[in-house]
Amino acid sequence: MEEQSEKEITLQIDGVEVKAKEGETILDAAKKVGINIITLCHHQALSPFGACRVCSVEITDNRGRKRIVTSCNYPVYEGLTVDTRSEKVIRTRKLLLELLLARCPKVKKIQDLAGAYGIRKPRLWIEDEEEDCILCGLCARVCEELIGVSAINFANRGVEREVTAPYDALSDDCIGCGACAIVCPTDSKRIRINTYPMLEEDIRKVEEKFLKGTRDKDLGVYTDIFAAKSSVDGQDGGMATALLISGMQKGLIDAAIVVQRKEGYKAEAITVEDIDGIMKAKGTKYSRVKMMSKLEELIKKGKRKVAIVGTPCEVRAARKIQQILLRDYPTVEIIILGLFCYESFIYEKLKEETRKLLGVDLDKAEKTQISKGKYIVEIEGKAYSCSVRKLSKAVEEGCEYCNDFVSKLADVSIGSVGSMEGYSTVIVRSDVGKKLLEDVKFIKGDVKKEEIAKLSVLKEKRAKKHFAPIIQ
Ligand SMILES: Cc1cc2nc3c(=O)[nH]c(=O)nc-3n(C[C@H](O)[C@H](O)[C@H](O)COP(=O)(O)OP(=O)(O)OC[C@H]3O[C@@H](n4cnc5c(N)ncnc54)[C@H](O)[C@@H]3O)c2cc1C
Ligand code: SF4
Ligand code: SF4
Ligand code: FES
Repeated sequence: MEEQSEKEITLQIDGVEVKAKEGETILDAAKKVGINIITLCHHQALSPFGACRVCSVEITDNRGRKRIVTSCNYPVYEGLTVDTRSEKVIRTRKLLLELLLARCPKVKKIQDLAGAYGIRKPRLWIEDEEEDCILCGLCARVCEELIGVSAINFANRGVEREVTAPYDALSDDCIGCGACAIVCPTDSKRIRINTYPMLEEDIRKVEEKFLKGTRDKDLGVYTDIFAAKSSVDGQDGGMATALLISGMQKGLIDAAIVVQRKEGYKAEAITVEDIDGIMKAKGTKYSRVKMMSKLEELIKKGKRKVAIVGTPCEVRAARKIQQILLRDYPTVEIIILGLFCYESFIYEKLKEETRKLLGVDLDKAEKTQISKGKYIVEIEGKAYSCSVRKLSKAVEEGCEYCNDFVSKLADVSIGSVGSMEGYSTVIVRSDVGKKLLEDVKFIKGDVKKEEIAKLSVLKEKRAKKHFAPIIQ
């Protein structure tokens, strides 16, 4: 796109004289004088793509030459004349809308736009009555340009062209932020097949189907909340590990997906089927790991009682996959242990920042802890620390768009905030979670709910601020 300059120019749109900045798009210049041009693949916060062409207008340049251009990405200049309603423009739009209606005959937005141009039925062959994606690419652009995750993109060519996750498999990267679903002009279900956008209505459905208890706006749905210290020397009170072990001993779990250090501090998701494996994975690794493909893999291998431990984004993904899996494998039982999470870090960058800020090698850390605004690294019994704010360069892209601190959709949520040192805060959200807790031995303590609520509100506010340009 051409750079917008500060230079003011004058152009004509539908006979109206318009003052605009040189390089601004025709679409924006027209808006200024109340001339609305229809768009489908355009979003103010994203780079123009020029895919749908419904925003076509006719221009006359300084030499008197006329042509059709897309107004969402065509830059204005001194002396330009624009006609947004010429015969040629109407003909072009009609043709494009007819093509779109033939592609997506049941999509209300396309039906309405086509209807406004007098097209009720396309004269063309309808390939798939259920198709609802117009290939505008807004979902892929928002995911890459703003969220910074790039979980989806275009694949294939010609009639096979579609937007999907790599290899058309369940996404290991999607954080379920919902931005793609918000910007999609057709509410396409396609973008929800192998990614996990969770909008309010999806969250309510999960709560109704899987959770039980009273709904608190900051803490989510729950029946019980307390501080607990188990016999496991874990990250905090070792409750995540203690619950997994108990679940396996009681026969509620036959495999679990946990996160283990691989090389140095670098972590990976692994599947474990015994207590030894669960114990080896205790302790927090403050980085995001790819987990979701493991869930499908385990079910396909014949496991029917699977537990997964993850951050709120992973919990959202697991709930979505659980619903998909239940259709094909109705006997599948998935237990979801959710961790509290304000943000996670990119391993390589966290290592670099740790060296710069603390002068130590993260790979040699025996334990890392983020607590009360401090980042602490323990090496050979010595603790090195700094303010967690100094790690901002290492934060995973996308975390700023995430609004869940307490894993609101888990069966049991576990964190450290709200409890005293050495204790885990435990939030029980379902009958499955309650059953998992039965017979687990731990020392119970008080929890400060207001401390948890405070961080929950902070995280929601941060996400809301980042989402503002997306929600036009
Ligand atoms: C990225 C991240 C950020 C967090 N931020 C906060 C926070 O801001 N405030 C807060 O109160 N708590 C936070 N936690 C949770 C906290 O660090 C503890 O994990 C939690 O209190 C459980 O402690 P525990 O002693 O019961 O866990 P343990 O019994 O030690 O078990 C830890 C479990 O977590 C799993 N795990 C470890 N790393 C990861 C990972 N990267 N992704 C998925 N699973 C993992 C392990 O597989 C293990 O099963 C965060 C956790 C993560 C992973
Ligand atoms: S939910 Fe968020 S992370 Fe996932 S595909 Fe959509 S925009 Fe990307
Ligand atoms: S803040 Fe935590 S839960 Fe949210 S996207 Fe980042 S890692 Fe996932
Ligand atoms: S809105 Fe301009 S090309 Fe789609």
